[in-house]
Amino acid sequence: MAEQYVGAIDQGTTGTRFMVFDHSGQVVANAYEKHEQIYPEPGWVEHDALEIWRKTKLVIEEALSNADLGPDQLAAIGITNQRETTVLWDAETGKPIHNAIVWQDRRTTDRVETLRDEDKVEMIRGKTGLEADAYFSATKAEWLLDNSDPIKLQRSRPEDIRDRAAEGEILFGTMDTWLIYKLTGNHITDVTNASRTMLYNIHENDWDDELLDEFDVHREMLPEVRPSSDDDTYGSTSASGFLNAEVPVAGALGDQQAALFGQTCFDEGDAKNTYGTGSFFLMNTGEEAVDSEHGLLTTIGFQRSGEPVQYALEGSIFVTGAAIQWLEDVDLIDNPGQTEELARSVDSTDDVYLVPAFTGLGAPHWDQRARGTIVGMTRGTRKEHIVRATLESIAFQTRDVAEAMEADSGIEMQSLRVDGGAVKNNFLCQLQSNIIDSDIVRPQVDETTALGSAYAAGLAVGYWETLDELRDNWQVDREFTPDDDATGVDERYGRWTEAVERSKDWARD
Ligand code: G3P
Repeated sequence: MAEQYVGAIDQGTTGTRFMVFDHSGQVVANAYEKHEQIYPEPGWVEHDALEIWRKTKLVIEEALSNADLGPDQLAAIGITNQRETTVLWDAETGKPIHNAIVWQDRRTTDRVETLRDEDKVEMIRGKTGLEADAYFSATKAEWLLDNSDPIKLQRSRPEDIRDRAAEGEILFGTMDTWLIYKLTGNHITDVTNASRTMLYNIHENDWDDELLDEFDVHREMLPEVRPSSDDDTYGSTSASGFLNAEVPVAGALGDQQAALFGQTCFDEGDAKNTYGTGSFFLMNTGEEAVDSEHGLLTTIGFQRSGEPVQYALEGSIFVTGAAIQWLEDVDLIDNPGQTEELARSVDSTDDVYLVPAFTGLGAPHWDQRARGTIVGMTRGTRKEHIVRATLESIAFQTRDVAEAMEADSGIEMQSLRVDGGAVKNNFLCQLQSNIIDSDIVRPQVDETTALGSAYAAGLAVGYWETLDELRDNWQVDREFTPDDDATGVDERYGRWTEAVERSKDWARD
Protein backbone atom coordinates (compact mmCIF):
# COMPACT_ATOMS: atom_id res chain seq x y z
CA MET A 1 0.00 0.00 0.00
CA ALA A 2 1.22 3.51 -0.83
CA GLU A 3 2.59 5.59 2.07
CA GLN A 4 -0.19 6.94 4.31
CA TYR A 5 -0.64 10.50 5.65
CA VAL A 6 -3.24 12.59 7.44
CA GLY A 7 -4.82 15.71 5.93
CA ALA A 8 -6.06 18.83 7.72
CA ILE A 9 -8.42 21.52 6.46
CA ASP A 10 -7.69 24.80 8.25
CA GLN A 11 -10.63 27.06 7.46
CA GLY A 12 -9.50 30.44 8.87
CA THR A 13 -10.87 33.98 8.87
CA THR A 14 -8.90 35.14 5.85
CA GLY A 15 -8.47 31.91 3.92
CA THR A 16 -8.50 28.14 3.77
CA ARG A 17 -5.47 25.87 3.90
CA PHE A 18 -5.06 22.15 3.31
CA MET A 19 -2.00 20.49 4.79
CA VAL A 20 -0.85 16.90 4.70
CA PHE A 21 1.27 15.58 7.57
CA ASP A 22 3.43 12.48 7.88
CA HIS A 23 3.86 10.29 10.93
CA SER A 24 6.51 12.56 12.44
CA GLY A 25 4.20 15.57 12.16
CA GLN A 26 6.13 17.12 9.25
CA VAL A 27 4.29 18.92 6.45
CA VAL A 28 4.40 17.07 3.12
CA ALA A 29 1.82 19.10 1.16
CA ASN A 30 0.27 22.53 1.54
CA ALA A 31 -2.05 24.81 -0.43
CA TYR A 32 -3.85 28.01 0.55
CA GLU A 33 -6.58 30.21 -0.93
CA LYS A 34 -7.96 33.48 0.40
CA HIS A 35 -11.66 34.28 0.31
CA GLU A 36 -13.51 37.57 0.10
CA GLN A 37 -14.14 39.65 3.22
CA ILE A 38 -17.56 41.26 2.82
CA TYR A 39 -18.27 44.46 4.79
CA PRO A 40 -21.92 45.39 4.07
CA GLU A 41 -21.94 48.09 6.77
CA PRO A 42 -19.42 49.49 9.27
CA GLY A 43 -18.75 46.84 11.91
CA TRP A 44 -20.35 44.04 9.87
CA VAL A 45 -18.23 41.20 8.45
CA GLU A 46 -19.56 38.38 6.26
CA HIS A 47 -18.21 35.41 4.30
CA ASP A 48 -19.76 33.55 1.40
CA ALA A 49 -19.94 29.97 2.69
CA LEU A 50 -20.25 28.55 -0.83
CA GLU A 51 -17.06 30.35 -1.85
CA ILE A 52 -15.37 28.81 1.21
CA TRP A 53 -16.59 25.36 0.18
CA ARG A 54 -15.26 25.89 -3.38
CA LYS A 55 -11.89 27.06 -2.02
CA THR A 56 -11.77 24.09 0.34
CA LYS A 57 -12.13 21.65 -2.55
CA LEU A 58 -9.57 23.62 -4.53
CA VAL A 59 -6.87 23.60 -1.83
CA ILE A 60 -7.34 19.88 -1.23
CA GLU A 61 -6.92 19.17 -4.94
CA GLU A 62 -3.98 21.58 -5.28
CA ALA A 63 -2.07 20.27 -2.27
CA LEU A 64 -2.48 16.64 -3.32
CA SER A 65 -1.50 17.34 -6.90
CA ASN A 66 1.54 19.52 -5.96
CA ALA A 67 2.91 16.73 -3.77
CA ASP A 68 1.90 14.02 -6.22
CA LEU A 69 -0.32 12.27 -3.68
CA GLY A 70 -3.51 10.33 -4.28
CA PRO A 71 -6.59 10.70 -2.03
CA ASP A 72 -6.22 7.02 -1.13
CA GLN A 73 -3.03 8.04 0.69
CA LEU A 74 -5.07 10.01 3.22
CA ALA A 75 -5.78 7.82 6.25
CA ALA A 76 -8.14 10.53 7.54
CA ILE A 77 -9.00 14.20 7.32
CA GLY A 78 -9.28 16.57 10.30
CA ILE A 79 -10.95 19.98 10.28
CA THR A 80 -10.07 23.11 12.16
CA ASN A 81 -11.82 26.41 11.70
CA GLN A 82 -12.42 30.02 12.58
CA ARG A 83 -14.80 29.68 15.50
CA GLU A 84 -18.20 31.27 16.15
CA THR A 85 -18.74 32.29 12.50
CA THR A 86 -22.31 31.25 11.78
CA VAL A 87 -24.00 29.94 8.67
CA LEU A 88 -27.59 28.76 8.16
CA TRP A 89 -28.46 26.69 5.15
CA ASP A 90 -31.38 25.02 3.47
CA ALA A 91 -31.24 21.26 4.00
CA GLU A 92 -33.14 20.68 0.75
CA THR A 93 -30.77 22.60 -1.52
CA GLY A 94 -27.58 22.62 0.58
CA LYS A 95 -27.36 26.36 -0.07
CA PRO A 96 -26.81 29.02 2.60
CA ILE A 97 -29.82 31.26 3.26
CA HIS A 98 -27.53 34.26 3.81
CA ASN A 99 -23.82 35.04 3.93
CA ALA A 100 -22.14 33.65 7.04
CA ILE A 101 -21.79 36.18 9.87
CA VAL A 102 -18.16 36.29 10.95
CA TRP A 103 -16.97 36.17 14.57
CA GLN A 104 -15.67 39.77 14.29
CA ASP A 105 -19.11 41.11 13.29
CA ARG A 106 -20.65 43.64 15.72
CA ARG A 107 -24.20 43.95 14.33
CA THR A 108 -25.77 42.32 17.40
CA THR A 109 -24.13 44.60 19.97
CA ASP A 110 -27.47 46.15 20.95
CA ARG A 111 -29.04 42.75 21.42
CA VAL A 112 -26.24 41.78 23.81
CA GLU A 113 -26.78 45.00 25.72
CA THR A 114 -30.40 44.03 26.31
CA LEU A 115 -29.13 40.74 27.78
CA ARG A 116 -26.96 42.79 30.12
CA ASP A 117 -29.86 45.09 31.04
CA GLU A 118 -32.02 42.06 31.77
CA ASP A 119 -29.32 40.63 34.10
CA LYS A 120 -28.85 37.50 32.02
CA VAL A 121 -25.06 37.72 31.93
CA GLU A 122 -24.44 35.55 35.00
CA MET A 123 -26.87 32.89 33.78
CA ILE A 124 -25.09 32.79 30.41
CA ARG A 125 -21.64 32.64 31.97
CA GLY A 126 -22.73 29.90 34.37
CA LYS A 127 -23.99 27.65 31.60
CA THR A 128 -21.63 28.41 28.73
CA GLY A 129 -18.46 29.75 30.39
CA LEU A 130 -18.71 32.73 28.00
CA GLU A 131 -19.00 36.46 28.50
CA ALA A 132 -22.21 37.66 26.79
CA ASP A 133 -20.89 39.26 23.61
CA ALA A 134 -21.75 39.67 19.93
CA TYR A 135 -18.60 37.57 19.27
CA PHE A 136 -20.42 34.25 19.84
CA SER A 137 -22.85 32.48 17.49
CA ALA A 138 -26.15 32.76 19.40
CA THR A 139 -27.09 36.34 18.51
CA LYS A 140 -25.77 35.83 14.96
CA ALA A 141 -28.11 32.84 14.46
CA GLU A 142 -31.00 34.84 15.92
CA TRP A 143 -30.24 37.74 13.55
CA LEU A 144 -30.09 35.38 10.55
CA LEU A 145 -33.44 33.83 11.45
CA ASP A 146 -34.99 37.28 11.81
CA ASN A 147 -33.43 38.95 8.79
CA SER A 148 -32.67 36.48 6.01
CA ASP A 149 -34.58 37.51 2.94
CA PRO A 150 -37.42 35.06 2.23
CA ILE A 151 -37.68 36.36 -1.34
CA LYS A 152 -34.16 35.23 -2.14
CA LEU A 153 -35.12 31.90 -0.64
CA GLN A 154 -38.10 31.79 -2.97
CA ARG A 155 -40.39 31.55 0.03
CA SER A 156 -43.32 33.86 0.45
CA ARG A 157 -43.47 34.68 4.14
CA PRO A 158 -40.68 35.59 6.61
CA GLU A 159 -42.16 33.28 9.24
CA ASP A 160 -41.53 30.40 6.86
CA ILE A 161 -37.88 30.52 7.86
CA ARG A 162 -38.60 29.89 11.52
CA ASP A 163 -41.26 27.29 10.66
CA ARG A 164 -38.83 25.50 8.44
CA ALA A 165 -36.09 25.79 11.08
CA ALA A 166 -38.45 24.16 13.59
CA GLU A 167 -38.82 21.25 11.16
CA GLY A 168 -35.05 20.90 10.76
CA GLU A 169 -35.26 22.13 7.16
CA ILE A 170 -32.97 25.08 7.89
CA LEU A 171 -29.72 23.96 9.51
CA PHE A 172 -27.29 25.82 11.76
CA GLY A 173 -23.54 25.41 11.71
CA THR A 174 -20.18 26.90 12.51
CA MET A 175 -17.63 26.44 9.71
CA ASP A 176 -16.59 22.93 10.87
CA THR A 177 -20.24 21.84 10.67
CA TRP A 178 -20.67 23.38 7.23
CA LEU A 179 -17.60 21.58 5.87
CA ILE A 180 -18.40 18.26 7.57
CA TYR A 181 -21.88 18.51 6.00
CA LYS A 182 -20.48 19.26 2.57
CA LEU A 183 -17.83 16.53 2.81
CA THR A 184 -19.88 13.74 4.38
CA GLY A 185 -23.56 14.75 4.22
CA ASN A 186 -23.83 14.51 8.02
CA HIS A 187 -24.88 17.35 10.33
CA ILE A 188 -22.26 17.20 13.08
CA THR A 189 -20.07 19.50 15.16
CA ASP A 190 -17.45 18.81 17.81
CA VAL A 191 -17.58 19.82 21.48
CA THR A 192 -15.05 22.65 21.13
CA ASN A 193 -17.00 24.40 18.39
CA ALA A 194 -20.30 23.81 20.22
CA SER A 195 -18.78 25.49 23.28
CA ARG A 196 -18.39 28.76 21.32
CA THR A 197 -22.02 29.13 20.28
CA MET A 198 -23.40 30.52 23.58
CA LEU A 199 -26.14 27.88 23.14
CA TYR A 200 -24.26 24.93 24.65
CA ASN A 201 -24.09 23.99 28.32
CA ILE A 202 -20.43 23.07 28.85
CA HIS A 203 -21.10 21.35 32.19
CA GLU A 204 -24.01 19.18 31.02
CA ASN A 205 -22.55 18.72 27.55
CA ASP A 206 -25.78 19.44 25.74
CA TRP A 207 -27.56 22.27 23.94
CA ASP A 208 -29.29 24.34 26.61
CA ASP A 209 -33.08 24.72 26.40
CA GLU A 210 -33.21 28.03 28.28
CA LEU A 211 -30.67 29.55 25.87
CA LEU A 212 -32.40 28.05 22.84
CA ASP A 213 -35.62 29.74 24.04
CA GLU A 214 -33.85 33.03 24.68
CA PHE A 215 -32.52 33.22 21.11
CA ASP A 216 -35.46 31.39 19.53
CA VAL A 217 -33.20 28.77 18.00
CA HIS A 218 -34.78 25.35 17.49
CA ARG A 219 -32.99 22.21 18.64
CA GLU A 220 -33.94 20.62 15.29
CA MET A 221 -31.62 23.07 13.51
CA LEU A 222 -28.60 22.13 15.59
CA PRO A 223 -25.92 19.59 14.76
CA GLU A 224 -25.16 16.46 16.73
CA VAL A 225 -22.23 17.13 19.08
CA ARG A 226 -19.37 14.64 18.94
CA PRO A 227 -15.87 14.29 20.48
CA SER A 228 -13.08 16.30 18.79
CA SER A 229 -11.32 13.05 17.94
CA ASP A 230 -14.02 10.53 17.07
CA ASP A 231 -13.29 6.82 16.68
CA ASP A 232 -16.72 6.41 15.05
CA THR A 233 -15.72 9.16 12.54
CA TYR A 234 -18.12 11.89 11.37
CA GLY A 235 -18.55 10.12 8.04
CA SER A 236 -16.48 9.84 4.87
CA THR A 237 -16.04 11.67 1.63
CA SER A 238 -17.81 9.94 -1.20
CA ALA A 239 -16.24 7.85 -3.94
CA SER A 240 -18.46 9.72 -6.37
CA GLY A 241 -17.59 13.15 -4.94
CA PHE A 242 -14.82 15.58 -5.89
CA LEU A 243 -12.08 13.42 -4.30
CA ASN A 244 -13.25 10.19 -5.94
CA ALA A 245 -12.36 8.39 -2.74
CA GLU A 246 -13.81 7.49 0.64
CA VAL A 247 -11.68 9.26 3.21
CA PRO A 248 -12.89 9.30 6.83
CA VAL A 249 -13.40 12.73 8.41
CA ALA A 250 -12.55 11.88 11.99
CA GLY A 251 -11.51 14.98 13.93
CA ALA A 252 -12.56 18.60 14.36
CA LEU A 253 -11.55 21.38 16.72
CA GLY A 254 -12.02 25.14 16.73
CA ASP A 255 -8.73 26.63 15.56
CA GLN A 256 -7.52 27.80 18.97
CA GLN A 257 -8.26 24.47 20.59
CA ALA A 258 -6.55 22.78 17.62
CA ALA A 259 -3.44 24.87 18.27
CA LEU A 260 -3.55 23.78 21.94
CA PHE A 261 -3.70 20.16 20.76
CA GLY A 262 -1.02 20.67 18.08
CA GLN A 263 1.29 22.24 20.68
CA THR A 264 0.73 19.01 22.67
CA CYS A 265 -0.69 20.97 25.63
CA PHE A 266 -2.40 17.78 26.82
CA ASP A 267 -1.82 18.30 30.55
CA GLU A 268 -3.31 20.62 33.12
CA GLY A 269 -1.32 23.89 33.27
CA ASP A 270 0.03 23.63 29.68
CA ALA A 271 -0.54 26.90 27.79
CA LYS A 272 -0.14 28.36 24.32
CA ASN A 273 -0.71 31.68 22.58
CA THR A 274 -1.52 31.86 18.87
CA TYR A 275 -0.88 35.10 16.97
CA GLY A 276 -3.30 35.20 14.03
CA THR A 277 -5.88 37.85 13.08
CA GLY A 278 -6.35 38.08 16.83
CA SER A 279 -4.48 36.28 19.59
CA PHE A 280 -5.89 33.49 21.64
CA PHE A 281 -4.19 32.40 24.84
CA LEU A 282 -5.41 29.03 26.15
CA MET A 283 -4.46 27.09 29.23
CA ASN A 284 -5.49 23.47 29.72
CA THR A 285 -7.31 23.09 33.07
CA GLY A 286 -7.93 19.33 32.78
CA GLU A 287 -11.31 17.90 33.74
CA GLU A 288 -12.17 20.97 35.79
CA ALA A 289 -14.05 23.88 34.20
CA VAL A 290 -12.39 26.74 36.09
CA ASP A 291 -14.65 29.80 36.50
CA SER A 292 -12.84 33.00 35.67
CA GLU A 293 -12.99 35.96 38.01
CA HIS A 294 -10.74 38.07 35.79
CA GLY A 295 -12.51 38.33 32.44
CA LEU A 296 -11.37 35.09 30.80
CA LEU A 297 -13.61 32.52 29.14
CA THR A 298 -14.11 28.96 30.32
CA THR A 299 -14.27 26.75 27.28
CA ILE A 300 -13.90 23.16 26.09
CA GLY A 301 -10.29 22.34 25.17
CA PHE A 302 -10.82 18.96 23.51
CA GLN A 303 -12.37 15.54 23.94
CA ARG A 304 -11.20 12.15 22.74
CA SER A 305 -13.64 9.29 22.12
CA GLY A 306 -14.71 7.59 25.32
CA GLU A 307 -12.85 10.10 27.49
CA PRO A 308 -14.05 13.02 29.59
CA VAL A 309 -14.12 16.55 28.20
CA GLN A 310 -10.95 18.56 28.91
CA TYR A 311 -11.52 22.24 29.68
CA ALA A 312 -9.44 25.35 29.11
CA LEU A 313 -9.30 28.96 30.21
CA GLU A 314 -9.08 31.34 27.27
CA GLY A 315 -8.04 34.94 26.81
CA SER A 316 -9.47 36.03 23.43
CA ILE A 317 -7.79 39.16 22.02
CA PHE A 318 -9.68 40.31 18.93
CA VAL A 319 -7.02 42.28 17.05
CA THR A 320 -3.27 41.56 16.93
CA GLY A 321 -2.14 40.32 13.48
CA ALA A 322 -5.03 42.35 12.01
CA ALA A 323 -3.34 45.48 13.39
CA ILE A 324 -0.30 44.65 11.24
CA GLN A 325 -2.65 44.21 8.26
CA TRP A 326 -4.06 47.63 9.09
CA LEU A 327 -0.54 49.15 8.95
CA GLU A 328 -0.34 47.72 5.43
CA ASP A 329 -3.84 48.97 4.51
CA VAL A 330 -2.89 52.54 5.42
CA ASP A 331 0.46 52.23 3.58
CA LEU A 332 2.70 52.56 6.62
CA ILE A 333 4.35 49.28 5.58
CA ASP A 334 4.56 47.33 2.31
CA ASN A 335 4.46 43.91 3.95
CA PRO A 336 4.33 42.43 7.48
CA GLY A 337 8.01 41.34 7.27
CA GLN A 338 9.04 45.01 7.34
CA THR A 339 7.70 45.62 10.85
CA GLU A 340 10.72 43.99 12.51
CA GLU A 341 13.26 46.26 10.79
CA LEU A 342 11.18 49.43 11.26
CA ALA A 343 10.54 48.70 14.94
CA ARG A 344 14.22 47.99 15.61
CA SER A 345 15.26 51.25 13.93
CA VAL A 346 13.98 53.29 16.91
CA ASP A 347 14.85 52.76 20.58
CA SER A 348 11.31 53.17 21.82
CA THR A 349 7.88 54.36 20.77
CA ASP A 350 8.65 57.76 22.35
CA ASP A 351 5.71 57.21 24.71
CA VAL A 352 3.26 56.56 21.87
CA TYR A 353 0.67 53.82 22.54
CA LEU A 354 -1.63 52.28 19.96
CA VAL A 355 -4.68 50.32 21.17
CA PRO A 356 -6.05 48.35 18.19
CA ALA A 357 -9.60 48.04 19.57
CA PHE A 358 -11.02 48.08 16.03
CA THR A 359 -13.83 45.66 16.86
CA GLY A 360 -14.17 46.43 20.56
CA LEU A 361 -12.06 44.86 23.28
CA GLY A 362 -12.23 41.16 24.17
CA ALA A 363 -10.58 39.57 27.22
CA PRO A 364 -10.16 40.72 29.88
CA HIS A 365 -11.98 44.03 29.25
CA TRP A 366 -15.08 42.99 27.24
CA ASP A 367 -16.00 46.43 25.95
CA GLN A 368 -18.05 46.13 22.75
CA ARG A 369 -17.94 49.88 22.15
CA ALA A 370 -14.18 50.41 22.53
CA ARG A 371 -12.47 51.63 19.35
CA GLY A 372 -8.88 51.96 18.08
CA THR A 373 -6.82 54.73 19.66
CA ILE A 374 -3.34 56.21 19.28
CA VAL A 375 -2.17 58.38 22.18
CA GLY A 376 1.02 60.35 22.86
CA MET A 377 1.86 61.53 19.33
CA THR A 378 4.04 64.61 18.94
CA ARG A 379 5.33 66.48 15.89
CA GLY A 380 8.34 64.18 16.09
CA THR A 381 6.34 60.94 15.82
CA ARG A 382 7.46 58.84 12.84
CA LYS A 383 5.94 55.81 11.23
CA GLU A 384 8.65 53.73 12.91
CA HIS A 385 7.19 54.69 16.30
CA ILE A 386 3.69 53.73 15.19
CA VAL A 387 4.94 50.39 13.85
CA ARG A 388 6.78 49.69 17.09
CA ALA A 389 3.74 50.73 19.12
CA THR A 390 1.64 48.28 17.07
CA LEU A 391 4.00 45.39 17.87
CA GLU A 392 4.07 46.45 21.52
CA SER A 393 0.25 46.47 21.58
CA ILE A 394 0.30 42.79 20.64
CA ALA A 395 2.64 41.99 23.52
CA PHE A 396 0.83 44.24 26.04
CA GLN A 397 -2.57 42.76 25.20
CA THR A 398 -1.04 39.34 25.82
CA ARG A 399 0.18 40.55 29.22
CA ASP A 400 -3.39 41.67 30.04
CA VAL A 401 -4.62 38.10 29.56
CA ALA A 402 -1.50 36.44 31.02
CA GLU A 403 -2.06 38.32 34.29
CA ALA A 404 -5.71 37.28 34.35
CA MET A 405 -4.68 33.68 33.61
CA GLU A 406 -2.22 33.58 36.51
CA ALA A 407 -4.78 35.13 38.87
CA ASP A 408 -7.52 32.63 37.86
CA SER A 409 -5.39 29.50 37.73
CA GLY A 410 -2.97 30.30 40.56
CA ILE A 411 -0.20 28.98 38.27
CA GLU A 412 2.79 31.27 37.70
CA MET A 413 3.78 30.91 34.08
CA GLN A 414 7.40 29.97 33.45
CA SER A 415 7.19 29.46 29.73
CA LEU A 416 4.66 29.95 26.97
CA ARG A 417 4.42 28.06 23.68
CA VAL A 418 3.65 30.36 20.77
CA ASP A 419 2.55 29.90 17.17
CA GLY A 420 0.78 31.68 14.31
CA GLY A 421 2.00 33.91 11.49
CA ALA A 422 3.40 36.74 13.61
CA VAL A 423 5.85 34.58 15.61
CA LYS A 424 8.22 34.50 12.64
CA ASN A 425 9.02 38.03 13.87
CA ASN A 426 11.94 37.56 16.32
CA PHE A 427 11.59 41.13 17.58
CA LEU A 428 8.00 40.42 18.62
CA CYS A 429 8.95 37.15 20.36
CA GLN A 430 11.73 38.86 22.34
CA LEU A 431 9.44 41.77 23.18
CA GLN A 432 6.77 39.32 24.35
CA SER A 433 9.24 37.56 26.60
CA ASN A 434 10.30 40.88 28.16
CA ILE A 435 6.77 42.17 28.58
CA ILE A 436 5.35 39.07 30.29
CA ASP A 437 8.63 38.18 32.02
CA SER A 438 8.48 34.57 30.89
CA ASP A 439 10.27 32.31 28.41
CA ILE A 440 8.71 32.18 24.95
CA VAL A 441 9.07 28.89 23.13
CA ARG A 442 8.57 28.68 19.37
CA PRO A 443 8.19 25.16 17.91
CA GLN A 444 9.65 24.00 14.59
CA VAL A 445 6.28 23.28 12.99
CA ASP A 446 4.49 26.59 13.38
CA GLU A 447 1.32 25.39 11.62
CA THR A 448 0.16 23.91 14.92
CA THR A 449 -3.50 24.63 14.19
CA ALA A 450 -3.64 22.34 11.18
CA LEU A 451 -1.37 19.86 12.96
CA GLY A 452 -3.73 19.70 15.96
CA SER A 453 -6.70 18.73 13.82
CA ALA A 454 -4.59 16.20 11.90
CA TYR A 455 -3.56 14.69 15.26
CA ALA A 456 -7.23 14.49 16.34
CA ALA A 457 -8.26 12.75 13.11
CA GLY A 458 -5.15 10.51 13.03
CA LEU A 459 -5.66 9.33 16.64
CA ALA A 460 -9.27 8.43 15.81
CA VAL A 461 -8.29 6.10 12.97
CA GLY A 462 -5.21 4.65 14.68
CA TYR A 463 -2.63 6.45 12.50
CA TRP A 464 -1.14 7.63 15.80
CA GLU A 465 -1.86 5.54 18.87
CA THR A 466 -0.69 7.49 21.90
CA LEU A 467 -0.30 11.08 23.00
CA ASP A 468 3.37 10.30 23.74
CA GLU A 469 4.03 9.74 20.03
CA LEU A 470 2.73 13.27 19.44
CA ARG A 471 4.76 14.72 22.32
CA ASP A 472 7.88 13.18 20.73
CA ASN A 473 7.10 14.97 17.45
CA TRP A 474 7.15 18.40 19.13
CA GLN A 475 10.53 20.14 18.66
CA VAL A 476 11.76 23.57 19.72
CA ASP A 477 12.82 25.99 17.00
CA ARG A 478 13.93 28.83 19.28
CA GLU A 479 13.49 29.96 22.86
CA PHE A 480 13.43 33.64 23.94
CA THR A 481 14.21 34.66 27.54
CA PRO A 482 13.76 38.12 29.13
CA ASP A 483 16.80 40.35 28.36
CA ASP A 484 18.11 43.83 29.28
CA ASP A 485 15.33 45.58 27.38
CA ALA A 486 12.92 44.27 30.03
CA THR A 487 14.01 47.17 32.29
CA GLY A 488 11.21 49.67 32.81
CA VAL A 489 8.57 47.32 31.39
CA ASP A 490 6.23 47.66 34.36
CA GLU A 491 6.15 51.43 33.99
CA ARG A 492 5.39 51.14 30.28
CA TYR A 493 2.69 48.59 31.04
CA GLY A 494 1.11 51.14 33.39
CA ARG A 495 1.04 53.67 30.52
CA TRP A 496 -0.47 51.01 28.25
CA THR A 497 -3.24 50.40 30.78
CA GLU A 498 -4.05 54.13 30.75
CA ALA A 499 -4.17 54.12 26.94
CA VAL A 500 -6.61 51.16 27.02
CA GLU A 501 -8.90 53.12 29.33
CA ARG A 502 -8.99 55.93 26.76
CA SER A 503 -10.12 53.56 23.99
CA LYS A 504 -13.13 52.29 25.96
CA ASP A 505 -16.80 53.04 25.35
CA TRP A 506 -16.18 55.21 22.28
CA ALA A 507 -18.63 53.93 19.64
CA ARG A 508 -22.14 55.33 19.46
CA ASP A 509 -25.15 53.26 18.31
O1 G3P B 1 -12.49 32.91 17.73
C1 G3P B 1 -12.03 33.35 16.49
C2 G3P B 1 -10.85 32.55 16.03
O2 G3P B 1 -11.17 31.20 16.02
C3 G3P B 1 -10.38 33.07 14.68
O3 G3P B 1 -9.13 32.62 14.42
O4 G3P B 1 -7.02 32.39 13.23
O5 G3P B 1 -9.10 32.51 11.89
O6 G3P B 1 -8.24 34.53 13.05
P1 G3P B 1 -8.32 33.04 13.05
